[in-house]
Amino acid sequence: MPSFRAPRGTRDLLPAERPAWERLAAIASDLARRYGYASIETPIFEQTAVFERGVGEATDIVEKELFRIQPRSEEAESWALRPEGTAGIVRAYVQHGLHTLPQPVRVQYLGPMFRYDRPQAGRYRQFWQWDVEAIGDPGPAIDAEIVELGHRFYVEAGLPNVKVLLNSIGDGACRPAYVTELTAYFASHRERLPELERSRLATNPLRLLDSKDPEMAALIAAAPRIVDRLCDACRTHFDAVRAHLDALGVPVRLEPSLVRGLDYYTRTAFEFYREGAEGQQQALGGGGRYDGLVQLLGGKPTPGIGFALGLDRVVLALAEERIAAPAPAHPAVFVTGADPADTVSRLRFATDLRHGGICARADLGQRRLSRQLEQAAREGAHFAVILGDELREGLVQLRDLRAASQHPVPLADLAREIERGEQSHRHG
Ligand code: HAM
Repeated sequence: MPSFRAPRGTRDLLPAERPAWERLAAIASDLARRYGYASIETPIFEQTAVFERGVGEATDIVEKELFRIQPRSEEAESWALRPEGTAGIVRAYVQHGLHTLPQPVRVQYLGPMFRYDRPQAGRYRQFWQWDVEAIGDPGPAIDAEIVELGHRFYVEAGLPNVKVLLNSIGDGACRPAYVTELTAYFASHRERLPELERSRLATNPLRLLDSKDPEMAALIAAAPRIVDRLCDACRTHFDAVRAHLDALGVPVRLEPSLVRGLDYYTRTAFEFYREGAEGQQQALGGGGRYDGLVQLLGGKPTPGIGFALGLDRVVLALAEERIAAPAPAHPAVFVTGADPADTVSRLRFATDLRHGGICARADLGQRRLSRQLEQAAREGAHFAVILGDELREGLVQLRDLRAASQHPVPLADLAREIERGEQSHRHG
């Protein structure tokens, strides 16, 4: 047993797993380029108040799952690791006066988030999100742009059967009356509420709708629905969002009990699920409109909308659907030599090839040639270069390890031959 292990709820992503992640990062960054979302980075920790105020003090994320950083005695500030990205991005928008840029400000980034939750399959304490935000446009067309972009990510990743669950959760005009009605409804069934839901009733009654407790299913199904109680402005907005999504052909299912677990949402709320995988830890992503958040964090009233996709869950889903992950990169060429002690020549040769743009490795141990060639095969190299006496005449042996053939090549032609071999391998 090793003495040290990665902290509970975190994982090491080893070299064999990374290509699947890098592929997703490349898809995200290519989509961001095509859709016009610029990249942004914010710190991994923020003042705790950014999350308390932004995400909401009565949410699970802040109340139970925040990784708080023990302040050093001389520092008054209290910090926490970010449980999500939206609050930090909006804090940056306000701090740097990004309202002076053309609106909306479209930004995105991919990075780790931290939630101190009980770890299980698909739920980690450190996990990765691709977070996309459009700040400064009240919608409804931008809502559809955002939802379609999230959906498109799954399609390009190889998960065409991902559905959007969509709802409107109203705004400051219609939600308060609805929350009062909902509270009265659940209070009248208090004796049927599980312990946790009973305590939530006082602090965050909307969250009861989101409960995955089987005891709650019937109560939730019969609960008053916000979509039936939207004010005219919210109703018009929601209808227009749906019309735009229809026009884009995004598969949407209306889900009246979808409320989301963060307090900042207004109006449009959505989650992404794979067909037939709609359990508690199975949301592949989610997002919504947050028209009050900029103001809550000290800015002028500014609308916003965004989503975050959970990449850990996407990687799991791709494995379940048996979508092959790309193989780790193999070197084009592995430099070997007849003289085991001559590591200088091998390293210099590999370095020259690398400077010329070729993916090269060299055997830097002092093994005999047959062992070096075994190593070249084990590392999956396409070619082995063998340095020997012919080097004096400006020749090396080039062995094609895939075709099992070998011939002498003048040094001047080597890079070209390797590149040609690599290209014909790639194309066919
Ligand atoms: P969220 O629904 O809390 O939203 O998280 C988005 C996604 O992150 C989830 O659907 C899930 O795939 C993934 N996720 C969340 N927690 C975990 C975990 N413990 N382990 C693995 N994956 C997890 C937000 O975070 C909002 N900031 C989204 C947003 C952006 N809204 C507006 N803009």
